[in-house]
Amino acid sequence: MTAAESFHIRTYGCQMNVHDSDKLTNLLHHSGWLNSETADEAGLLIINTCSIREKAENRLYSDLGALRDWKEAAPGRILGVGGCVAQQVGDALLRRFSHLDFVFGTHNLKLVPSMVDSASRGQRTSEVEENRSLARFDLPERHPELAADRAGAAFVTVMEGCDMFCSFCIVPRTRGREISRPAESILREARRLAEEGICEITLLGQTVNAYGRHDRRRAGGSPSGGAGFAELLAELDSIPGIRRIRYTSPHPLFFDASLIQAHASLKSLCPHVHLPVQSGSNRILEAMRRRYRREQYLEIVRDLRAAVPQIALTTDLIVGFPGERREDFQATLDLVREVGFVDHYGFKYSPRPDTTAIRMGDPVAPEEAQERLQELQGLQRELSLAHHRSRVGGWTEVLVEGQSRAGHGQFRGRDPSHRLVNLAADEEKPVEPISAGQIRSVELVEATPHSLIGIVRA
Ligand code: SAH
Ligand code: SF4
Ligand code: F3S
Repeated sequence: MTAAESFHIRTYGCQMNVHDSDKLTNLLHHSGWLNSETADEAGLLIINTCSIREKAENRLYSDLGALRDWKEAAPGRILGVGGCVAQQVGDALLRRFSHLDFVFGTHNLKLVPSMVDSASRGQRTSEVEENRSLARFDLPERHPELAADRAGAAFVTVMEGCDMFCSFCIVPRTRGREISRPAESILREARRLAEEGICEITLLGQTVNAYGRHDRRRAGGSPSGGAGFAELLAELDSIPGIRRIRYTSPHPLFFDASLIQAHASLKSLCPHVHLPVQSGSNRILEAMRRRYRREQYLEIVRDLRAAVPQIALTTDLIVGFPGERREDFQATLDLVREVGFVDHYGFKYSPRPDTTAIRMGDPVAPEEAQERLQELQGLQRELSLAHHRSRVGGWTEVLVEGQSRAGHGQFRGRDPSHRLVNLAADEEKPVEPISAGQIRSVELVEATPHSLIGIVRA
């Protein structure tokens, strides 16, 4: 059955997109729409797209092809596309796909309810203008229908956009210029989340630790209140009820002493940093325009470890960047081993439109890039397993997310260092029933490369 007033959002890409879909869901609830678990039951379908690699972009085109039948299966159905591909391609999408009703860019979430109204009157619209106004951060309060992102946990946007222009990356084109959200608005949202029972917040931004940097330079008005990222963290740390603070993704260039000091001193700042390095070779880092050298990255790692010895580090890596030779890749392997990352996301370089790397010669053969990726994954498996094994016998605190997906234990959750822990109840000494959103004390009893297994003791 199709309910004309129910919607479904299909989300691809990073946490910013996941969170944008939450914001859209909230906006649509406020306009009287109901969420539907599947597209089959929905009258409105929105695809929130990612463009980071070619494959992600192509997923939209194959989805749109397949959705002609969906659109025709019930009269009045509405189809919209948003996110990074929408921003990149714009209204050309409307021309190419005649069954598409509206296209909205990454700065125009708030326009979606009115675009849906227009679509219901048969008008096809596209809104992909860059919006520099801070008003785009003013979104309605959380609707009672909107569930938390994860039990007990929520994302909070602190800045958007990116001014770094790494040579491989499309994000500065799809998310626009860097802009920081006013500190007061961030703190207000965090306080409200805490009142609603949220105990973990993850601060989001493309270069999250650059928070407020443009405001500090600006004469007069300063939306972030002149606060840098470390000061913002300190303010958030003092909110009663917020027990865990995470952030993603920081850029090494802005990882200053004040942030390291924040890790040493703030009780709710989690002992985990996801710090994308991309490559271990200085030659490649320069070609990528990452603006730091391997030595500087290692210095941050050393200082972080001095401040918080048990800190867990994860990263992003690209293999097969144009001109990457075996010795450059070897430098990446060496760096991964030297840092001892507990996990990483590894990607094969994918050429993106309007980036400077697309014009670079000397491509790496796809088979070679694939082999490098596999070699990296093999090394990571070894490092992850060694790290997990070193923790067996110890205790940790797990924020329970929900039922376990794997066969181990009945529940799963994350510990402060963001390790996945599958949980089993203590059969000899039963404890009170486990439910999502709680933080429970866990004894770690087994390790796998991807997760830890623990018994809930209290
Ligand atoms: N702002 C973050 C990264 C956001 S994009 C940062 O600067 O670290 C997430 C990851 O996708 C990047 O860290 C990078 O590893 C990967 N990525 C981005 N563009 C890519 C491309 N053209 N090909 C392959 N991987 C890419
Ligand atoms: Fe892309 Fe670089 Fe910006 Fe990260 S810092 S979003 S990799 S341009
Ligand atoms: Fe993808 Fe856009 Fe995020 S390109 S990774 S959804 S910022």
